Amino acid sequence: VESMATMPSGAGNIPHLNAIVLGEALAFEENDLIFPSDDFSRQAHVPSPLKYLEMYKRSIEDPAGFWSDIASSFYWKQKWGQQVYLENLDVRKGDIRIEWFKGGTTNICYNCLDSNVEAGLGDKIAFYWEGNEPGVDATLTYIQLLHNVCQLANYLKDIGVKKGDAVVVYLPMLMELPITMLACARIGAVHSVVFAGFSAESLAQRIVDCKPKVVITCNAVKRGSKVIHLKDIVDAALIESSQSGVSIADVCLTYENQSAMKKESTKWKEERDVWWQDVIPKYPTTCAVEWVDAEDPLFLLYTSGSTGKPKGVVHTTGGYMVYTATTFKYAFDYKPSDIYWCTADCGWITGHSYVTYGPLLNGASAVIFEGAPNYPNPGRCWDIVDKYQVTIFYTAPTLVRSLMRDSDEARYLTCPYFHLCGCDIFNYVTRYSRKSLRVLGSVGEPINPSAWRWFFNLVGDSRCPISDTWWQTETGGFMITPLPGAWPQKPGSATFPFFGVQAVIVDEKGVEIEGECSGYLCVKSSWPGAFRTLYGDHERYETTYFKPFPGYYFSGDGCSRDKDGYHWLTGRVDDVINVSGHRIGTAEVESALVSHPQCAEAAVVGVEHEVKGQGIYAFVTLVEGVPYSEELRKGLILNVRKQIGAFAAPDKVHWAPGLPKTRSGKIMRRILRKIASRQLDELGDTSTLAEPNVVDQLIALADV
Ligand code: PRX
Repeated sequence: VESMATMPSGAGNIPHLNAIVLGEALAFEENDLIFPSDDFSRQAHVPSPLKYLEMYKRSIEDPAGFWSDIASSFYWKQKWGQQVYLENLDVRKGDIRIEWFKGGTTNICYNCLDSNVEAGLGDKIAFYWEGNEPGVDATLTYIQLLHNVCQLANYLKDIGVKKGDAVVVYLPMLMELPITMLACARIGAVHSVVFAGFSAESLAQRIVDCKPKVVITCNAVKRGSKVIHLKDIVDAALIESSQSGVSIADVCLTYENQSAMKKESTKWKEERDVWWQDVIPKYPTTCAVEWVDAEDPLFLLYTSGSTGKPKGVVHTTGGYMVYTATTFKYAFDYKPSDIYWCTADCGWITGHSYVTYGPLLNGASAVIFEGAPNYPNPGRCWDIVDKYQVTIFYTAPTLVRSLMRDSDEARYLTCPYFHLCGCDIFNYVTRYSRKSLRVLGSVGEPINPSAWRWFFNLVGDSRCPISDTWWQTETGGFMITPLPGAWPQKPGSATFPFFGVQAVIVDEKGVEIEGECSGYLCVKSSWPGAFRTLYGDHERYETTYFKPFPGYYFSGDGCSRDKDGYHWLTGRVDDVINVSGHRIGTAEVESALVSHPQCAEAAVVGVEHEVKGQGIYAFVTLVEGVPYSEELRKGLILNVRKQIGAFAAPDKVHWAPGLPKTRSGKIMRRILRKIASRQLDELGDTSTLAEPNVVDQLIALADV
């Protein structure tokens, strides 16, 4: 508090920060705040709010200088041109355009691997791999990783993959997944990783959209006690995509994941399928780098929106590289001695930016975990933390809540005398040491204060700051995040914008609101890690993100800012549901439901869920004369599992003989949300409904 009192008054033209800096606003209510220890702050990259403000101010007032200073520490074959960045975020002024370091040529794989090897980190562990079964593990040093990447890169070149070609990757958390991403990057190919929990139909949809030369997968994976036959899913997806008439993927490179399934039991198509282990080790362990322009695409990653089919978010090379590396370093206060573990899957953006690229660009040692976090028991995560002496642990609120539930339940169930003896040996958390931990992280959805406190007090022994990082597939890296040594924390707040991020809150008319307020979270200027377009659909890019509030990038999230300038994310304001940190468009689930021959109409809303954050609640209207039955309910859910994936299966199907609609035929989701969450006294005005009695009908059928 003392150091804050010495801050200069005013932070230039950064209005919401003035609130914190100006004299009277320093009167934080102390009981809201959790301060980093002096020892922690002293050693941190950003040790005080003052330092943050100094850096933040420069990043806003001189983005070109701020980011080019940082970018200069990377390897560029050729330096970027005069203009460090170029942007137009205002649809009224023409096409939306964002470019950083254009004209500069580099290679992110080179910066992740070769640079670190040259800097003497060749023998440092890049990845500790922990298999599904405890005791099954492996490691790769930076030099070994480089060799593996080069072998695969050489193979890809050999089969004709060239700069700019798409490669679809459908792999679980094996080391071959980051190896594949890096190999693509090395030769300038564009990877499109599809989370290995998506169904064959979803995979096919993505394959048809980006037309890869090759699909890379493995035969199967074990998650917990379940074996999932990934190759069968790829086979089905390739059959389906070939029916679209587009010529794609004449090679399916398949890794034999022996612990899950043997080669002999894998279905095989001789003319198309190739075993990874048969070909890759034969290739040379060096491979020339393809130098690419900073603005050449690095990857595509499909994500859900409120309407239509998933969007292929396009990230380019240079800005993304600089941004993921920098955010990783500061938000986790990364030091070379850290052992870092992010539980995210590389099938999502978190795995791209903060399993693969961010850590490797910093020369970090990272843990990759193949299995399920509660297998063989809910202590597995802390077992892994102790095993590898993890210092930075980054996860999602849904996992925190599920481990919190399991561990508390176990304590009470297994030790009937707990209240008398207070022994903790049955607690799945406290039975492990966790002494190595120094920073915790959260991502994917707002972390509720009770989960935050459990994470902080129990897992981190009240010692480790929590970086609650707000960002999105589109943003490439952290946007609003604590810097653990700088700010006192408030449980559940993502705190302040990262360097270079002009986060603003606007009202419905798109007018910026200052001070303490609530509204729509937007960003006013570009940052290096921003996505540049949607694959093959720049118009949709502009319409979805830049037209709702002209002059701004619109995140789709609601946000409030408190009197101290802290940001509190309040969730999506569009028709996107966030289930266990997975982003699911209501339209996608509805379309899967109505593709069932007996379903006439569907409306899907999100409801609060104790563990998943949000659950999926589906209202379905059946074809005239079809009776609702348990079998039909199962059939409807199966359709969603088949078309999207198991993670999108509705938690509740509510039979709706009619849906509440306005006279113009628009479904009133506001009412459906209230019915779904049983807030029946908050239904509000139903008089504008075409048929007001459908509401009573729905309420009566709520538990059918
Ligand atoms: O609603 C926000 C939520 O996740 C959305 C982005 O989802 P996705 O693109 O799948 O990326 C997830 C990983 C970055 C956001 O629009 N979200 C993500 N992180 C947070 C969050 N909401 C609140 N707090 C967070 N820390």
